[in-house]
This record gives sequence, C-alpha cells and structure tokens, in this order.
Amino acid sequence: MEYRKIGNSDLEVSVVTFGAWAAGGWMWGGTERSEAVKAIQESYNVGVTSIDTAPVYGQGLSEEIVGEAIKDLPRDKVQILTKYGMRWDLEKGKLAMHSKDNSGKAIDIYRYAGKDSIIQECENSLKRLGTDYIDLYQIHWPDITTPIAETMEAISQLIQSGKVRYAGVCNYNADQVREAAGAIELVSNQVPYSMVKRDIEKETVPYCMAHDIAILAYSPLERGLLTGKMKPGYKFTADDHRASLYFYKDENLKRVDAFLDKIKPMADEKHVSISQLVLRWTVEQPGITIALVGARNAEQALQNAASMDITLTSDEINSITDQLNKLELVP
Ligand SMILES: NC(=O)c1ccc[n+]([C@@H]2O[C@H](COP(=O)([O-])OP(=O)(O)OC[C@H]3O[C@@H](n4cnc5c(N)ncnc54)[C@H](OP(=O)(O)O)[C@@H]3O)[C@@H](O)[C@H]2O)c1
Repeated sequence: MEYRKIGNSDLEVSVVTFGAWAAGGWMWGGTERSEAVKAIQESYNVGVTSIDTAPVYGQGLSEEIVGEAIKDLPRDKVQILTKYGMRWDLEKGKLAMHSKDNSGKAIDIYRYAGKDSIIQECENSLKRLGTDYIDLYQIHWPDITTPIAETMEAISQLIQSGKVRYAGVCNYNADQVREAAGAIELVSNQVPYSMVKRDIEKETVPYCMAHDIAILAYSPLERGLLTGKMKPGYKFTADDHRASLYFYKDENLKRVDAFLDKIKPMADEKHVSISQLVLRWTVEQPGITIALVGARNAEQALQNAASMDITLTSDEINSITDQLNKLELVP
C-alpha cells in the first residue's frame, strides 16, 4: 500500500481508502453487515488504514459498521474520515431528496450545516464510531442556507476541543473551496472523479493543486461500471440507485465495455484485473491525492487494495488516456 499526506497537514492516509457508503446499504439495495465488517478488517490487514463514511450512509449504520470493524485496532493506526450536513432526522436547511431507509420507510434528507446541528452530529458520530476523535471531518454537500463561515466556526470549535483533527469539504467547486479556506485551515475536497467523470480536471483540480488542498476522488470505479462486470442488460437489485443513472444505460455499458477491451491487454500483461488498472491510472492523475473505493465484501476490497502494487510508466498512463479520450457516453 502507498500512503499520501492530505494537503499540508500531517494526516497520512492510504491511497486506496475504504469507502463505506455501500456498506451502509442505503441506496445500494441493502447490505450484509458481517461481510462489510470483514471487508474493512481484511482491508486493514493489507494496509488500507483509512476509511471514509458518513452518518447518512444507512442512517447511522455505516458508521456503526466502521466502529465495529475497528474496535480492536490501534486507534492511532486508523484514519477515520466522516462527514456532517446531511440530516434525515431534522427538517432544517434545504431538502436534498426524498428517499427510503433500509427498512423501506420514507425519509427526507436535508442539507443542513448550522453550528448547533454540527456539534450534535459530531457527538452522534463519535458514539457510533466508538472513538473520541475524527481524523477528517467533511461537510457532505454545500448548504446554501447557512453561511460557510458559521459552518467552519463549528468545525474550529470541534478542532479546539480535540474531537476533530482536520477540516475538509465535499462536492465544493473552486469558488466554494476558496470561501471555506478563508474561514478555516482547509485540507481537502472530496469530489466525484473516475475515468468517465473528469469534469473536475478543468477548475477544481488546478485550484486545489495551487493551494495545497488534497483531492479525495470518490466513486473511482464509477460504482462498479469500470470493473468490466456490467454488460448490456445488467440488472440491479431493488432500491439500488444505480439503476436510474445514465452511466448504466445499455448503450453506455456497450461503449465502456469496448473501451475496457482496449486496455485489457495491458492488464493481462501485468497479470492484474481491469479494475486494478483503472484505480492505478486514477491515482496517477495530477492533483488526485487518494481514491475512496467502495466494496461489498473482502474479495472486492482486497482486489482493490492490490491495485497499489501495480506500477505504470508515463507512456502506459498516456496510452490509456489516449484510448479514454475516444470514449463518449450518451447522456
Ligand atoms: N461525498 C460524497 O458525496 C460521496 C458520494 C459518493 C461516494 N462517496 C465516497 O466514495 C466511496 C466510493 O464510491 P462508491 O462506493 O460510490 O463507488 P465505487 O468505489 O466506484 O464503486 C464501489 C462499488 O463497485 C463495486 N465494486 C467495487 N470493487 C469491485 C471489484 N473489485 N469487483 C467488482 N465490483 C466491485 C461494488 O458494488 P456492487 O458489487 O454492488 O456492484 C462497490 O460497492 C463511497 O463509499 C463513499 O465513501 C462520497
């Protein structure tokens, strides 16, 4: 495993960080708790020391699973990245979506990052995670109803009290990052980035690179698409949000499959899987600090972790990028 520093902080994290969204089941058609715990523990055994979660993932379940998985591990050898600002248990801020929890009950999710709410959320997360501090505490989505300065004041207070080590944001554009960095020492921005979703390369990446803010790339396998396992006609289970996204339309599955076929010989030559090649390419892109990679079970997690054993020359990276630049998806 490789490790990289987050921004100019002394927080060192594994380049493949375990993403615990699917582990919480919500929006992923459910979860198998013991498999999820095992996936996190086996990842740790091969050097994946960092875990990204959020209260809203399974409405507390993902954080509980993380807490269970790390309870016997040395706390200072694990880095916990969690979030705040997506409330399903408080009607405040801006409605983000109507949804259903894991038991099928209707819930409304609000983007809200007011000061008192954050202080309360932090206490709840610490309890579920079974720890007394969070390494990186990130706003989950921008909240247009609360000034960024108020939100960051809450985080400064949590840092002062030792409950949080570092402040990060998620899903912020360059302007929002600039504003937040004016209110607190900001170390990271967590944003979507994969071979088929590269919008951040234009503004967000250059801004973050110039200001020493780490980029945590989320959904680097485009939620399973870039493993090559999804062929036209692929069926998701009920309540899996992927079914409604354009990436998984048959036409796009066909196009992505044709692209993956082009890079397969390189994967074969290196005796690695396509998804491993994809992950290595992703973390080699300028400004990308780490990849947050989700996994349903230990087998997937171990395969993802092993992607860091691969080396790619700049010619190999460029030849993958050349093929990728010919790929166009239908909206
Ligand atoms: N801040 C945000 O707003 C935000 C948003 C999204 C994600 N994230 C973070 O980023 C993390 C990763 O993103 P993600 O989970 O959305 O997507 P991802 O990492 O691109 O894909 C994860 C999914 O792909 C499939 N998969 C993973 N490894 C595989 C393998 N080796 N072989 C076959 N299938 C494999 C699994 O689902 P199946 O087996 O069901 O196909 C797994 O749940 C999340 O867990 C979360 O921590 C943050």
